[in-house]
Amino acid sequence: MTRDWIKWHDEYEIPGSSLARRLEVVRGYLRPLLDRPRRVISMCAGDGRDVLPLLPPGSRAVLVEWDSELAARARAAAGEGVTVITGDAGTTTPYAEIAPAEIVLACGVFGNISYEDTRRTIAALPSLLTPGGAVVWTRAGSSDVREIFAGNGFTELGFTAPDDARFRVGLHRLDRDPDPYLADVRLFNFV
Ligand SMILES: C[S@@+](CC[C@H](N)C(=O)[O-])C[C@H]1O[C@@H](n2cnc3c(N)ncnc32)[C@H](O)[C@@H]1O
Repeated sequence: MTRDWIKWHDEYEIPGSSLARRLEVVRGYLRPLLDRPRRVISMCAGDGRDVLPLLPPGSRAVLVEWDSELAARARAAAGEGVTVITGDAGTTTPYAEIAPAEIVLACGVFGNISYEDTRRTIAALPSLLTPGGAVVWTRAGSSDVREIFAGNGFTELGFTAPDDARFRVGLHRLDRDPDPYLADVRLFNFV
């Protein structure tokens, strides 16, 4: 069954909800990174509320979202320099115009794809990032996402795991040479 991702977003509007709290953590990691114009990718961007309000003028961003209603909401909230693509975030192709980016958001992705796809996606992130580029990611519950980042040349700059909520938010920096960008590489399929 396909989830109703529009309804899923409603939880953001409930003060103190897990999703509202997660949003503040994600924005807390993003704010210092967005201290000047940046090039940003958001995979499975939803309505883009995590990054769009924080983007400094002069930034460029590509947000990729499958659901047309959510993509339309993101487009309505987007300023100059932001491209919202209604389509599949699970290949490298939509990132052609922006890669390499200084920041990649993978929020609400790893919990909805297979373990193998999580490994494959993280292993491919160095082809989408500038040297020293950062990834902000989320995942509900326990997983070895942090170990997979470590095994692919990333350094952990932040990790939030509240005792009273299932969400986890991580911030990792690429600390090895990036890989060249290649179009049409499959990263993941949403399950
Ligand atoms: C858990 S939500 C996360 C949304 C947003 N990143 C956030 O954290 O608020 C997952 C999103 O992925 C979108 N999605 C599912 N499959 C996708 C695909 N193949 N390509 C792009 N977006 C996809 C859904 O429509 C949904 O908006």
